[in-house]
Amino acid sequence: MKLGVNIDHIATLREARKINEPDPLMALNILKEAGADQVTIHLREDRRHINDFDANRIIESSFLPVNMECSINEEIIEIICKLKPHRATLVPEKREEVTTEGGLDILKNEKRVKNAIEKLKSNDIEVSLFIDPDFKQIKKANNLKVDMIELHTGKYSNLFLALNSNINHTPNQIYKDLDRKILKKELELEIKLLRDAAILAKDLGIEVAAGHGLNYQNIKNILEIKEISELNIGHSIIANSIFIGLKEAVKNMKDIILKYY
Ligand code: PXP
Repeated sequence: MKLGVNIDHIATLREARKINEPDPLMALNILKEAGADQVTIHLREDRRHINDFDANRIIESSFLPVNMECSINEEIIEIICKLKPHRATLVPEKREEVTTEGGLDILKNEKRVKNAIEKLKSNDIEVSLFIDPDFKQIKKANNLKVDMIELHTGKYSNLFLALNSNINHTPNQIYKDLDRKILKKELELEIKLLRDAAILAKDLGIEVAAGHGLNYQNIKNILEIKEISELNIGHSIIANSIFIGLKEAVKNMKDIILKYY
């Protein structure tokens, strides 16, 4: 199981002051030493954290493969083709959202997704699609001949949080008044959906990653799905690094992966 560490929020902290520290470039060596397998960054259309200069320096200097999350916006795809990361993961993007909410609907956006895939592949960039655990989406991903999909674990993470803490961070607190029994059932259903989606994708010959909202507590259920071969984790690792340092925070996540996978 590979661990991709999303370092966007190092740049989020820098942007709080709009100066030059902390510099996300400084994370690269630490990530490698701590056992991460990949660096993940998201060049958002509004450049709220990682900017073009960061992306360029990270891709030029990284010892680890760089996975770039990006929208299907044509201008962004042009930029990614010039930057030439190891892989591009196509994600949905709304300017007003706090973070990526829901997977990319590749049925609704088929033509734009197809164009983006063709462009990226012709520039020798591997392509992954960040989609919900939905059979129709996975079959479409297969038709589009992508190398990889990343299953959106946001709903799973929100349900886990609602069940295991008093915090409910979903956009409109949809789980707030749900009975614990119902929450438990919903959580089990979502895990089953993720498992079945991963099995289907693997049977179709597609590599399967997962990510969004994963943390040191909720990762274990996901590690039991053996068809998933990569996790991309950002917020939780960067949040922990404030207290224990980035190296320890990455290492602790990697240790859980090695123990349970
Ligand atoms: N994978 C994808 C495709 C994402 O968009 C994100 C969020 O940027 C992540 C993984 C990481 O999510 P988190 O920061 O919640 O760990």
